[in-house]
Amino acid sequence: MNNTYQKDLIVLGIETTCDETGAALFSQKKGILSNILSSSSSFHAKYKGVFPEHASRFHVDSIIPVIDEALCSAHLSPKDIDLISVAKGPGLIGSLLVGINTAKALSLAWNKPFIGVNHVEAHIYASMLGQKIPPLPSLGIVLSGGHTLLLLIKNIGDYECIGTTVDDAIGEAFDKAAAHLGLRYPGGPEIEKLALKGVPSISSLKAGHVKENPLNFSFSGLKTALFYALNKNLYRKEDLAASFQRAAFSDVFKKIEKALEKFPCKALFWGGGVSASKTLRKEAEKRFSPLPLFWPPPDLSTDNAAMIAAIGAIKYQKNPSPYSLKPQTKIPFFTRGKRFAKNSSPL
Ligand code: KG4
Ligand code: ZN
Repeated sequence: MNNTYQKDLIVLGIETTCDETGAALFSQKKGILSNILSSSSSFHAKYKGVFPEHASRFHVDSIIPVIDEALCSAHLSPKDIDLISVAKGPGLIGSLLVGINTAKALSLAWNKPFIGVNHVEAHIYASMLGQKIPPLPSLGIVLSGGHTLLLLIKNIGDYECIGTTVDDAIGEAFDKAAAHLGLRYPGGPEIEKLALKGVPSISSLKAGHVKENPLNFSFSGLKTALFYALNKNLYRKEDLAASFQRAAFSDVFKKIEKALEKFPCKALFWGGGVSASKTLRKEAEKRFSPLPLFWPPPDLSTDNAAMIAAIGAIKYQKNPSPYSLKPQTKIPFFTRGKRFAKNSSPL
């Protein structure tokens, strides 16, 4: 055991995988000291989805002010930082480049080590924060704008992907469905709000079944079914929203149940923007009781830099990153029986 880090470890986290510029200070002993986010989502709203080129330009403008604010609100200065942790992927290439190059530049300028971490792993770790030893093995459920994953968690850093989407990610389906309904981007919270006034009565809205692997997801047909139902002019938008939401969540629940039959687990760890949904949380608690369910605090469900700093603190004990680190737009998780390209080592 290396004694150097038995003292506190203060980590600056940097998040720029998509349209949120985030910086956070995290103490291994005290937890989150600051967590600052600046979002370009209101710009993207008029395109009903993220405009990648603008997202990266926005990161360029905001990254330094956001880091300054994170330091300021934690009452720290660069000399107090022990490690810089940055999301190396998956994400948009232009956005990732801004975060990674900022981390490298600050690492050189401040003479601090840096580490690149997996954004998706950080989403899951956000629900483990504050726990000394999470119950294992467990099932990790990542529901975000870019990812839909069922992960068998054997240990922190040791995952097996047992289900993923074959088309749209669940959050992406919510965003596209919201655009059809004339709601703002990001669509998930808007659909949740509208669904509260509706009845989930439209049975033609169903998520897909994937023959090759029944634990995989398919949401693109559900989004199209909503589009056709809307064009019939027979249904209220509230009922369409409620039916869409119910179809998406009950598909997730059904696949979790199937996964648990095959891989008995001690708990469920949730992560990703869609896991901020109060409706999802309430229904999942009912459906899976008495199995323990762990959720990130709502502000750590969606993209944030605190989760990047926290997973960096764990990973650093093993491996700091070299300056040759490159952004990875995709990072596969280990999947039994699947071959990976030579240059893409699975996590
Ligand atoms: O994790 P996240 O911030 O970004 C990615 O890593 O993709 O997730 C953003 C996604 C968006 O698609 C947004 O519509 C969805 O999370 N989301 C929700 C809710 N809040 C955010 N989806 C359903 N219900 C919600 N309440
Ligand atoms: Zn995310």
